[in-house]
Order: sequence, then C-alpha cells, then structure tokens
Amino acid sequence: MINKRVKAGIVGIGVCLPDKVLTNDEIAKMVDTSDEWIQERTGIKERRIAEDSQAASDLGVIAAQRALAQAGVSADEVGLIIVATATADMQFPSTACIIQDRLGIKNIPAFDVTAGCTGFIYALTIAAQFIANDFCRTVLVIGTEVLSKVTNWTDRETCILLADGAGAVALQPTAQGSGILSMKIGSDGAGGKHLQLPAGGSRLPVTPELIEANRNKLHMDGPEVFKFAMKMLPEVTEQALALAGLRKDDIDLIVPHQANIRIIEAAARRLDLPMEKFMVNLDRYGNTSSASIPIAMHEALESGRIKSGDVVVLTGFGAGLTWGSIVMRWI
Ligand code: ACO
Repeated sequence: MINKRVKAGIVGIGVCLPDKVLTNDEIAKMVDTSDEWIQERTGIKERRIAEDSQAASDLGVIAAQRALAQAGVSADEVGLIIVATATADMQFPSTACIIQDRLGIKNIPAFDVTAGCTGFIYALTIAAQFIANDFCRTVLVIGTEVLSKVTNWTDRETCILLADGAGAVALQPTAQGSGILSMKIGSDGAGGKHLQLPAGGSRLPVTPELIEANRNKLHMDGPEVFKFAMKMLPEVTEQALALAGLRKDDIDLIVPHQANIRIIEAAARRLDLPMEKFMVNLDRYGNTSSASIPIAMHEALESGRIKSGDVVVLTGFGAGLTWGSIVMRWI
C-alpha cells in the first residue's frame, strides 16, 4: 500500500521499561539452560520483568504520556488511540479504552489490535489511514506487553525469550515527502498453530486442568517460527521498499522486531545489507512482542542513529502468523 494521500509522521515517542532486570543466569536457576546457550542461540543477555501488580495498561499509559510530552501535544488533542497487545489487561474492555480513561481523554475512539509481535506495525498502518482521511490530527499508537504473565516458566524454549515493556508514538500529518511512505502487512492463519495462547478464550475457557497443563500460557514451535521469520522478514521488507519506490541502498536504518539475533543476521544476509543498518537492543530487553519495535526505535533516536530525513524501515513478524513492514522518511 503506497501512501499517496496525507502522510502520517512520528512527532513523539516514549517508552516504559520495568525496573526489574532478569538475567540469563537467574533463568538458568529455573530451567535447564545456561547464559552461554541463550546468548549464542538468541543474543539475549537480560530482559525486563514487570511487577506482579503491573498490567499492560500500566506500562502503556506511561509510554503514551512520554510520547505526548516529547511531541509537545496535550492529551486532549489526541483524536484516536490504538493499542497493539497480546497481553491485554482483560478480555474486555480494550486496553486502549483503559488507557484513554487513565489519560483523562473523553469521547474519542480507542481500540486494540491483535497481531502478535506484528501488532505495532498493524496499528501504525491503521493509524496512517485515519490521518490520510483527515479523521483527526493526532493519533496515539501504543505497543504494550506483560508477556511474563503468559510465560510458562518451566518451558526453556520460550521463557528465555519473552519480556515486558511498552513503547508509544504520537502521529500527526507531515509535510510533503516525509512520514510514512509505504506499508505492507500480511497474514497466514494456517500457521496460527505454531504460536498460540490456547486457553482463556471462548474455545477453551480456563479450568483448573488447563491451568495445570499450562494451556493458559504461550506455546511456540520455535523452529517453525524461526523458519517463517527467516523467510518473511527480508521478503516483506523488500516489498514495502519497492512500494515506496526506494532501493536497499536508500535505507538508513532498519528497526526489526527484536526476537532473536540469528533471525536479524539472516535477514541482513538475505537483504545483502551490513548489520550496522539494523537496530538491535534485544540483548538488554529480549522479545517484548508488539513493544519491541517502538522500544528499539526510541533507542535509535536517542542515540542519534535516526536523524531528520533518514529512510527508516520498521519490519516485523509474529503470531497469526502475521508480518508487516513500514517505510518512513523521518520528519
Ligand atoms: N537451553 C538449552 N537448550 C535448549 C534451550 C535452552 N533454553 N531451548 C531449547 N534447547 C535445546 C532443545 O531441546 C534441542 O535439544 P535436542 O537437540 O537435544 O532436541 C536443542 O536445544 C536445539 O533446539 P532448537 O529448538 O532447534 O533450538 P534453536 O536453535 O532453534 O533455538 C529458539 C530455539 C531460540 C526458540 C529458536 O527456535 C527461535 O528463536 N525461534 C523463534 C522464536 C521467535 O522468534 N518467536 C517470536 C515470537 S514470540 C512471541 O510472539 C511473543
């Protein structure tokens, strides 16, 4: 999808990372693994874990406030809130409505998007349509996750990866030539079985037996997801780039979903781009699902790796199975 109409651009970005750090050595005391294995096979050294009392909205609201502060926009100027999350506070109301209330905003639409780790890219794609259609001037897009609450802490294949955090952006119409240039999203429901949280919905309402069997926790076929990610990450990046009419050489920085360093390295090889073109911070934050891209983008901005006029590509994959990529010229 080429963005021919009014373009949306990021005017503010904020994050919220829990204080508590969980190291690989600490995980090695819970399951049969080691710091060496985790670092070698995933690139992750440590991750942040929320307090027991913290839900997705608690992290999301702080990230949103920080994004608005950076944008110099007050909460009452926001016309729409979209939250991407796989770990909503509850089945309903949406986490977006909860955050709307916490921000003290009245009478605007707010809704959640479920697209696993691609959630932030899906939400940004939706937000861009609202801005292009002149629905409102400012949209808040938030990716927030408390994956530690749906982690099976006895499963060494998943508990080493998952983490908590939130990132938010404020979007507004931009001047000609800047902002979101193209968007590409897709899904393949046939692959849904490879990455699921089976119990807790209408198919399998929770029972003591299901809880005992950890069916209310995240289940993943790691090698299947790995194969899918290795294929889709470079593919969707190239598709979005072609839609924007740009070449790989035009890219200043790719901000990929932070799942596994080996997936990012494989994407770099397939795209024939050096690793310096990829923002990586999974070593410190692990996989925060729909929050990983805004958290990495925030760090890239703070450290000067994104500058005005740069071509920045956001690209991700996740449960669904879903994938997506967005090409932007930074305002
Ligand atoms: N520590 C030590 N050994 C382990 C661990 C561990 N934490 N996990 C698996 N192993 C073992 C396996 O049991 C297996 O042993 P075996 O050969 O004796 O059977 C061996 O290591 C190799 O297992 P693989 O699953 O092939 O290991 P792989 O190198 O593929 O790494 C991993 C596993 C890290 C899960 C990888 O498959 C991966 O990153 N997959 C993609 C995950 C992902 O990106 N998910 C995204 C979404 S998550 C979300 O949506 C929130």
